[in-house]
Amino acid sequence: MNTITVFKGDGIGPEITDAVLDILNAAKADLSYEIFNVGEAVYKKTGEFIPQEGFASFEKNKILLKSPITTPIGKGFRSLNVTLRNKYDLWANIRPAKTNPCLNTLFSNVDIVTFRENTEDLYVGKEEVIDDDTVIAYKIITRKASTRIIKAAFEYAVNHGRKKCTCVHKANILKKTDGLFLSIFEEIAKQYPSIEANSLIVDNTCMQLVMDPGQFDVFVMPNLYGDIISDLTSGLIGGLGLLPSCNKGDEYAMYEAVHGSAPDIANKGIANPTALLLSACMMLDDLGQGDVAASIRRALDQVFAQQKYLTPDLKGHATTREFVEAIKSQIKR
Ligand code: NAI
Repeated sequence: MNTITVFKGDGIGPEITDAVLDILNAAKADLSYEIFNVGEAVYKKTGEFIPQEGFASFEKNKILLKSPITTPIGKGFRSLNVTLRNKYDLWANIRPAKTNPCLNTLFSNVDIVTFRENTEDLYVGKEEVIDDDTVIAYKIITRKASTRIIKAAFEYAVNHGRKKCTCVHKANILKKTDGLFLSIFEEIAKQYPSIEANSLIVDNTCMQLVMDPGQFDVFVMPNLYGDIISDLTSGLIGGLGLLPSCNKGDEYAMYEAVHGSAPDIANKGIANPTALLLSACMMLDDLGQGDVAASIRRALDQVFAQQKYLTPDLKGHATTREFVEAIKSQIKR
């Protein structure tokens, strides 16, 4: 039995966490949970965004299933997500976007895994006010962080029968920072002759993605482009409610939906828990419980194929609870 730490988060976080834990229990995942409320709501009550016991639990268990946390825009505290990624050196953010044939989506052939560098770039959050009318932000790219994420992308490609690895950048303008990332990519690519390697400027990548996403396989890129491009890939497969992710380092792993706390639909009982559920399936795969993950994915496909219990983001009318109950009854069959 694995003990994992669970953070419930803000907005739709608590609803989708309860939904996912309910499904994991129905699927008889061999897990025990240490569950913590974290985020803005907790801060207002206790003065702490993440309780010390929550950090201690993650440090002990090394595995965290985390729901989204609200970050104030343009002011206030630093993103807790970014803080967690840096505190535990979760340097690889892996975001697989795959068309589910049971859903009606724009494209039938999307199968893209984005490797997003997770610790530097503009996300270091170092900004300086020069004067009232001028501010600057630091974009940091290092050889160490670039090398490990690019290698991870190629290793993944080799180990998962993938054919191609595309480096996304803006090295035509950012010649030093993105230029370094691209040059490291070109060096490392030589060590993987069985994988086709190419590079693409980020703006062109956006256009190519919405015209012909089937041409892409594995992506690797610096932090900010990874954030934006992976949200774009979620749109190609049916929306943010479907895109899972994991954040991995050498010691710790954190599994979370790509989406945020969705305050516009919080507490309405209509959030789609699929992204967090599929993140939990990635976790089960990594914990050697791939059979449990497979049974959940099968049940999910059956519910999608029935079309009857889709949540509003997938053009359905079901509540989160109806969707969860439908998955649980498929698992029991
Ligand atoms: P968002 O991802 O929360 O929502 C964008 C749109 O997608 C909204 O219309 C929302 O209703 C919809 N949506 C997202 N997840 C959904 C789901 N599971 N089911 C159905 N619809 C879903 O992005 P937004 O509104 O820009 O950010 C809200 C807050 O979340 C911000 O404070 C932001 O900083 C934070 N955030 C946190 C993240 C994390 O904890 N990893 C990641 C991204 C944003």
